[in-house]
Amino acid sequence: MEFEVLAKCHTTRARVSRMKLAHGITMLPTFMPVATQAAIKGLTSEQVESLGVSLILNNTYHLNLRPGLKILRAAGGAHNFQRWNRNLLTDSGGFQLVSLSKFTTITEEGALFESPFTGEPTMLTPEESISIQHTIGADIIMQLDDVVGPRVGEAMERSIRWLDRCIAHHRSSGKEDTQNLFAIVQGGLDPQLRDRCLDEMIKRKDGVAGFAIGGLSGGEEKDVFWRVIKQCTGKLPEDRPRYSMGVGFAEDLLVCVALGVDMADCVFPTRTARFGVALTHRGPLNLRLSKHAKDLRPIDAACPCPTCSDGTSRAILHHTVTHETAAAHALTLHNITFQAQVMGRARTAIMNGTFPDYLKTFFAEYFGDDG
Ligand code: GUN
Ligand code: ZN
Repeated sequence: MEFEVLAKCHTTRARVSRMKLAHGITMLPTFMPVATQAAIKGLTSEQVESLGVSLILNNTYHLNLRPGLKILRAAGGAHNFQRWNRNLLTDSGGFQLVSLSKFTTITEEGALFESPFTGEPTMLTPEESISIQHTIGADIIMQLDDVVGPRVGEAMERSIRWLDRCIAHHRSSGKEDTQNLFAIVQGGLDPQLRDRCLDEMIKRKDGVAGFAIGGLSGGEEKDVFWRVIKQCTGKLPEDRPRYSMGVGFAEDLLVCVALGVDMADCVFPTRTARFGVALTHRGPLNLRLSKHAKDLRPIDAACPCPTCSDGTSRAILHHTVTHETAAAHALTLHNITFQAQVMGRARTAIMNGTFPDYLKTFFAEYFGDDG
């Protein structure tokens, strides 16, 4: 990949960069919508691209189970399969495995789990995760990491050893030119463990294209979360993209950007859309509430999304959102646009030297009570 920092904020660690991958340029910082199963729920790839999104996320764990590698190989990879022409990132599967499968045992070899379809014991090794991600063909692939909670130190050490195996396997594949491996820094909320993981993974810098910060967004206190992000971005090399995994609230995205994060992903904006919540610059709007029943205004008159610009009212969304999938699609289009706008405005402000002003305005409006 090509990665170039174009501008830096003088008073925070925020920066704008240009990341060029095999499927085009993505300007950072950016938010990546999640298409776990090769689709952003409710939208076509064409719709997603028309919103200006240039990087989405798929999941190795899900795609490996369904449709499976045979079909993906026959389709010529996941880009072709989902007709997505822009950049794609795949998470390695370890995290989903632990959060979704009841019977996961982590050994040094890999993660042993019971297939939810066949019930058969299945082993996902670091090498296998990388091989699957090679078949999927994502532009950015993630190392298999160990995310298990109560034994944070052990999981962190194992994540370092698994990174070595992922780097070796990726190197021997000959796919380094088109697919870019990212390391995932673990270590939980413990500064010493984080520090050791940072040191060890940064030593392996030549084998990776970027660094993710994992093991967060598990419901920890905000100040603890921010401290970990700050510690990581303070040490990670400036010349590599930094990706904060599982962050999606607008306020968290902007704090992460201020702390030097370049990329983030979360199911939140698309999931909350399906529950009837529109994200706005004045805070989230729950369209299920009866106060919207007679409100003929769009969600946000200034929003450029297809839903707001075609005059769809809060009232019709309220009327349909509990039983019409079209309402969920309309809200998904809006929420993805909102996330893109929050990050796009951050990039513009950083370029113009007005990022601190943007933060002030955003937070005043977002948490103001005049909505
Ligand atoms: N998604 C959110 N957090 C994590 C993490 O720590 N590891 C991986 N692989 N995916 C994540
Ligand atoms: Zn809109």
